[in-house]
Amino acid sequence: MLEVARMLSLLLQLAFTSFVLLSSVNTGNAGITSTFIRSEWPSTDIPLDNEVFAVPKGHNVPHQVHITQGDYDGKAVIISWVTDDEPGPSKVQYGTSKNRYDLTAEGSMTNYTFYKYKSGYIHHCLIDGLKYDTKYYYKLGSGDSSREFWFQTPPKIDPDATYHFGIIGDLGQTYNSLSTLEHYMQSPGQTVLFVGDLSYADRYQYTDVGLRWDTWGQFVERSTAYQPWIWAAGNHEIEYMPYMGEVIPFKSYLHRYTTPYLASKSSSPLWYSIRRASAHIIVLSSYSSFVTYTPQWMWLKEELTRVDREKTPWLIVLMHVPIYNSNEAHYMEGESMRAVFESWFIHYKVDVVFAGHVHAYERSYRISNINYNITSGDRYPVPDKSAPVYITVGDGGNQEGLAERFRDPQPDYSAFREASYGHSTLEIKNRTHAVYHWNRNDDGKKVATDSFILHNQYWASNIRRRKLKKHYLRSVVGQVST
Ligand SMILES: *[C@@H]1O[C@H](CO)[C@@H](O)[C@H](O)[C@H]1NC(C)=O
Ligand SMILES: *[C@@H]1O[C@H](CO)[C@@H](O)[C@H](O)[C@H]1NC(C)=O
Ligand SMILES: *[C@@H]1O[C@H](CO)[C@@H](O)[C@H](O)[C@H]1NC(C)=O
Ligand SMILES: [Fe+2]
Repeated sequence: MLEVARMLSLLLQLAFTSFVLLSSVNTGNAGITSTFIRSEWPSTDIPLDNEVFAVPKGHNVPHQVHITQGDYDGKAVIISWVTDDEPGPSKVQYGTSKNRYDLTAEGSMTNYTFYKYKSGYIHHCLIDGLKYDTKYYYKLGSGDSSREFWFQTPPKIDPDATYHFGIIGDLGQTYNSLSTLEHYMQSPGQTVLFVGDLSYADRYQYTDVGLRWDTWGQFVERSTAYQPWIWAAGNHEIEYMPYMGEVIPFKSYLHRYTTPYLASKSSSPLWYSIRRASAHIIVLSSYSSFVTYTPQWMWLKEELTRVDREKTPWLIVLMHVPIYNSNEAHYMEGESMRAVFESWFIHYKVDVVFAGHVHAYERSYRISNINYNITSGDRYPVPDKSAPVYITVGDGGNQEGLAERFRDPQPDYSAFREASYGHSTLEIKNRTHAVYHWNRNDDGKKVATDSFILHNQYWASNIRRRKLKKHYLRSVVGQVST
């Protein structure tokens, strides 16, 4: 009898040990804290007279040109720019061949004051009804001071459409910011997913705030005029500055940067979604109310039901404040949003959540903490196959410098972390595979430091994989027989 009991307990122990071993393999307990730390340049803004901020010469010349997606599905673009001398026109001439601008669209002008700063004339113009997968040329302004640019529309919404996204956060306008931007521009990235904190103009006072928004607009034009940047707002966009009488949140940001929020039935430009190629991208606002029954909460609840993984297999969420972050900087700031939204991310099998805010790089394993319960005491994140990968790329290189102190020891959920500057790219290959890279700025070179294959969360299930196989087999057989 005793023997049997001993055998049983041994067996149980064995089962328990192998369970622990297995789950540690799953979580990949051995997370990496990279010791690489190098900030090449001091964290100071590029001086105002630097050529990166230079405005082209000419009367009423368009400058600070930037574009973003203008509708839900990628057949429209919003073109924005600033002029200094005259309030109009807000016209865009465009077409599909260079120097032939057969089409025109009329936008509208807005302007604002911030303390004693008066903005230039800010123009936003929607051009829609575009063809997919087509290069468009466009012209702003007239006569000697006209300027020409181009952009490429995405392929039509299709589950196997390939597409190359860049992810940048917390950019600012230092020499490190310039390095990040130039490295990104060397990549094949076609659209930037920007996770908030654009200009860091709010680090300045009085009329310099508006001025530094202008320099930032000029600084990023080299990329933003030619490909859409998908905007998410960060804390540096809030600009609550009562000491100079400025108390309307997001005033500069909302005048300057538009989003196609109405197309996704949102009631605010701060949260919205777009579909592009094979991706459904949801943009959330960390600094707008999101608790149960608020507009953002109600919108997200509805929007998640509209996601169709058969059409757009890739479900990507952008937000400013990371939900999982093991850096001392902003530690646990994302906890409130985690408590509200995490269970939805699991239920809808979000592929990846990109955030910024923390000026370092970090990637998590697939984990969740939806069992958290203040009564029972359940409180640890656990491996969860349905969970997204959480990636923090607040490492664009702004004035505030790096967040160099990670918490010790590295938590089980943290797969890779490093305090240096860089950007990420996500290259979607088809409905099942995407290739992800984090590229560190390293002595002026772009170095791919953390990379992996991201497997789609929806199409990874066995049933769907079998269905996919059958579908492909049928189409292959079909091709052979015709
Ligand atoms: C905006 O521009 C118009 C036209 O020049 C001008 O009359 C108005 O005062 C400006 N408003 C602000 C808030 O700067
Ligand atoms: C939390 O734990 C308590 C006590 O174990 C349990 O009664 C309750 O159902 C749990 N709540 C949730 C939402 O799981
Ligand atoms: C998707 O792309 C990956 C990597 O290029 C490839 O291995 C895989 O077979 C592709 N899957 C389908 C369904 O085409
Ligand atoms: Fe931030």
